[in-house]
Formats: sequence, structure tokens, C-alpha cells
Amino acid sequence: MAGIGIVVAILVTLVAVLIPWLPTSASEEMDRIEFVYWFATVIAIGIFSLVVAVIVYSVMTFRAPPEDESDGPSIHGHTGLEVVWTLIPAVLVVAIGVLSAVVLSQNGNAGTNPLAVNVYAQQFAWRFEYPQQDKLKTGELVLPLGRSVEFDMTSVDVIHSFWIPEMGQKQDLVPGIQTKIVVTPKRTGTFTLICTELCGLGHATMRAPVRVLSQADFDAWVTEQQSGGGGDSGAALFTAAGCGSCHTFGPAGSTGAIGPSLDDLAAAAEKAGQPVDVYARESIVDPGKVVAGGYSDGVMPKSYGESYSAEEIDALVQYLSGAEQ
Ligand code: CUA
Repeated sequence: MAGIGIVVAILVTLVAVLIPWLPTSASEEMDRIEFVYWFATVIAIGIFSLVVAVIVYSVMTFRAPPEDESDGPSIHGHTGLEVVWTLIPAVLVVAIGVLSAVVLSQNGNAGTNPLAVNVYAQQFAWRFEYPQQDKLKTGELVLPLGRSVEFDMTSVDVIHSFWIPEMGQKQDLVPGIQTKIVVTPKRTGTFTLICTELCGLGHATMRAPVRVLSQADFDAWVTEQQSGGGGDSGAALFTAAGCGSCHTFGPAGSTGAIGPSLDDLAAAAEKAGQPVDVYARESIVDPGKVVAGGYSDGVMPKSYGESYSAEEIDALVQYLSGAEQ
């Protein structure tokens, strides 16, 4: 029986170790989450091997011969056995529970000097604001290495969910309330923030680039952004607002096909009998007013007029109507 158990344990251990089930960790929180995974996996391998060994051994040893149709002996209760198979699982489950609670608490602790980042989710884009960096606004998430980042998050419309696979942490963004999550990047690199809550037609396109830089590079990036490098240009906003996820637009190199192509904007404006800039503004602020043929009302969020400033909308309208070249 011990031999069967050892063989099964080795096979299952190989499956656990050789297949890359999890992405390579990029945060301290992910390291702790991985530790919980492995802790539970080792326990599961032990229990699984024990159960399989007993079953296989019993099937082979106590198999009734074909002509034997008698019932087996009737066995009632075994206090010792019952105490053992109650106590051991209870201890193991409590151990997993305690470890998980400790990790959950550590992963929620941002320490004394976190970098604050506000996150706004909206169908189908992410926006970030750095309150300690003069309220710097970006559509790309840039983080310094080795410093805990506390994300203060909310949604403008429906429920979205924040997840960077290599960073482990995951948290919903819910309209009307602020949710928090802490991430402490432990290696530099390029990652992707993914929305993991089905939030509409463009859900699968709701992604944002994430870059982890050394503290010095991060400081340089902040300075560059503040000096107007990113700025409120229409092109930058087009990217930050996620317009390209849904719309094809030549100047931006986007190929989205969920909404009408913006390369046809002039023709659509003419059809509606409006100047291009007036038509573009109306389509951003009140997308239900004129719905292009073949597309449905209600797919494009109606909240852009509220979530972007008048200056931002102006810049976007200029960009779309070709005035900003
Ligand atoms: Cu936002 Cu899915």
C-alpha cells in the first residue's frame, strides 16, 4: 500500500511542478499567494495519494472471486478511526484557513509610505491618477520598483475588476463605492492590467499597459509627464480613454470594430447635416442621439461627457475632426 501511495505522490507532484500553472511572480503579494497555493497543494497531494493507495490496494486485495455472491461482514463504527479521520482534516483545514488569513492581512497592508494611485474604470478603459504627483493623469499604469502602491478604485458605470496576473492581487471596482488593493512590484518589466468582470461588449478589450520602473526611472517619467510630455492632446486622450478598443481610426492606428470606424466620421457628419466637430462632440457626449447604421444604441457609454473635462472633450473633438494634425 505504501508503494502505491509513493508512486501516486510522485506522479501528482510531477504534474504540480512541471506544468507552469501560475505566471512568474512580479510582486511580493503574489509570492505570498503562491506560498498558500503550494501549502494547500502539498496537503492535497498527501491526502490524494493516501486515498488512492487505500482504494487501489483494497480493490486488488479484497476482490471477491466471480462465484462468491455472499455479502461482506457487517462492520459497525470504529471510534479510533473516526477520531483520526475527523481530527486530521480539521487540523489541516484550520491550518490553511489561518495561513490564508495571515496572507490576506499582509497583502492588504500598504505599510507607512505607499504610493497612492486612483483608478477609474469605465466601459472600456482604465484611467489612473497620481494624487501625490500633482494629480498626474495617465492611461498607462507606471509603478516604481519595490514600493507598495495603494490603489483607490471606483467605477464610473458598471462593475469592473482589476487584475495584473503576475501581481496576483484582484479587486472589483464598483460604482458608488471606493475599493482598495495593494501591490508591491518586485521586478521591472512590462505587464498588462486586465478587466476580469464581464462588463459589456468591449470587456475583452479592456486592458491597460503596466510598466514597472526603477525608482529613478519612475521619477524621470513623472517629471516628463508633468512637463506636458503626455498632456491633454487629443491623441493621448484617444488612447487613454480606450476609444481605439472599439473604433478604427487611421491617425491613431486603431482597428477596433465594436463601434463605427472614425475614418468615416466626415461622411457620417455630412449625412447628419452637421459640421464634423459638432457631430463628433455630440457623438461623444450623447452617443444615443445619432446611431450609425448597423450598430446598436447603448453600447457606447453615455458617461464620457461627465467623466472628462470640457478641455479634454475639446481636444478629443479636434483630434477626431482632423483639426489637430
Ligand atoms: Cu471592464 Cu470587463
